Amino acid sequence: MSLLSAPPLSLYIHIPWCVEKCPYCDFNSHALRGDIPEDEYVTALIKDLDDDITRFSLQGRTLHSIFIGGGTPSLFSPATIESLLSQVFARFDKQENIEVTLEANPGTVEAKKFDGFAKAGVSRLSIGVQSFGSDKLIQLGRIHDPKQAINAAKLAKNCGVKSFNLDLMHGLPSQHVGQALDDLKQAIALEPDHISWYQLTIEPNTSFYSKPPQLPEDETLWDIQEQGQALLAEAGYTQYEISAYSKTNKQSAHNLNYWRFGDYLGIGCGAHGKVTDVNTGNIYRTVKVKHPKGYLTKGRDALDHLNTVSDDELPFEFMINQLRLRESFSLEQFEQTTGLACDVILPTLSTLADKGLMSNQSEQWQVTQLGHRYLNSVLEAFL
Ligand SMILES: C[S@@+](CC[C@H](N)C(=O)[O-])C[C@H]1O[C@@H](n2cnc3c(N)ncnc32)[C@H](O)[C@@H]1O
Ligand code: SF4
Repeated sequence: MSLLSAPPLSLYIHIPWCVEKCPYCDFNSHALRGDIPEDEYVTALIKDLDDDITRFSLQGRTLHSIFIGGGTPSLFSPATIESLLSQVFARFDKQENIEVTLEANPGTVEAKKFDGFAKAGVSRLSIGVQSFGSDKLIQLGRIHDPKQAINAAKLAKNCGVKSFNLDLMHGLPSQHVGQALDDLKQAIALEPDHISWYQLTIEPNTSFYSKPPQLPEDETLWDIQEQGQALLAEAGYTQYEISAYSKTNKQSAHNLNYWRFGDYLGIGCGAHGKVTDVNTGNIYRTVKVKHPKGYLTKGRDALDHLNTVSDDELPFEFMINQLRLRESFSLEQFEQTTGLACDVILPTLSTLADKGLMSNQSEQWQVTQLGHRYLNSVLEAFL
């Protein structure tokens, strides 16, 4: 008998356009030339969704969260987002108080738009601030200044959504510890429910990769991390994942579901999905057609790749998600989401516990502080 049970199901919707391409960004996003074909794209998204529902027999599953990400979803009109959400909700039962997040760039924001998103069913806004330093925003190729970022946060607070997040990056070109901490202080003063605090990484296929900026020394990065974490904790933001900090009960339900190895459909250009078929015992991964031109070609199947995650891959896949979190996990959770018996990982867990990298209390397993420092080695043990 299979140990698998269907985990919570989320939906990720990708919007692939931005006003400009930022030099550090490797997300599937394209600088806008002309108007966005909003209606055409929504039609393609719903077809993509219907194909996934049929492919994985998802009729009757409850939707737990939605994340409209990008790219820059806030480029879309509230009317389009309303049409998109109402068509999605017509196809699923939804969990009470479902979290619906929309990503917004401060350069594309106005009061009417945020009010409209809230009325359309968006319950959480995630605003890409990155920094409050004007020079830093210019270096990052952002289309907004600090004032617009502050304005966007104030609008988010008052527009009727339940919560909002601010995205910040640190370890920016030539950044001093004081500047990184000042960004955090300014963010905290705006009272967001959640702060995503990412260390800037230089990704292949970006302008920063071909022309690398001068990044801070490792010692500075370490100080930023240590002092920033302390500042966030003091201000009442609990770290629950590598880069995610939230006020009490304000974690991102959508991201938590990814990291707990839940299921998610990914629709839109280049979107990734992961779905469990409890009948066959298979776990599938999907990737959709990446370029808007191809994705919008009439009659073309949006699915680019479909593959079954093999039993050999599952322990690592489970761990690479779960171990990002500060919370513990149970062996039962491992069995239910992977369909594998816990004997497969128990010897590795015990070895890691002997080395002080994992701990086990009342059947709950967790990475220790030391384990977090050597997370890559911990993960490699499951390969
Ligand atoms: C899809 S973007 C957010 C929404 C919107 N596109 C914007 O930039 O305002 C997601 C977030 O990932 C972070 N990010 C993007 N590229 C990154 C990189 N190379 N290193 C670290 N964080 C990065 C940024 O904080 C960004 O806000
Ligand atoms: S960081 Fe955001 S705004 Fe900039 S290119 Fe990437 S997705 Fe677009």
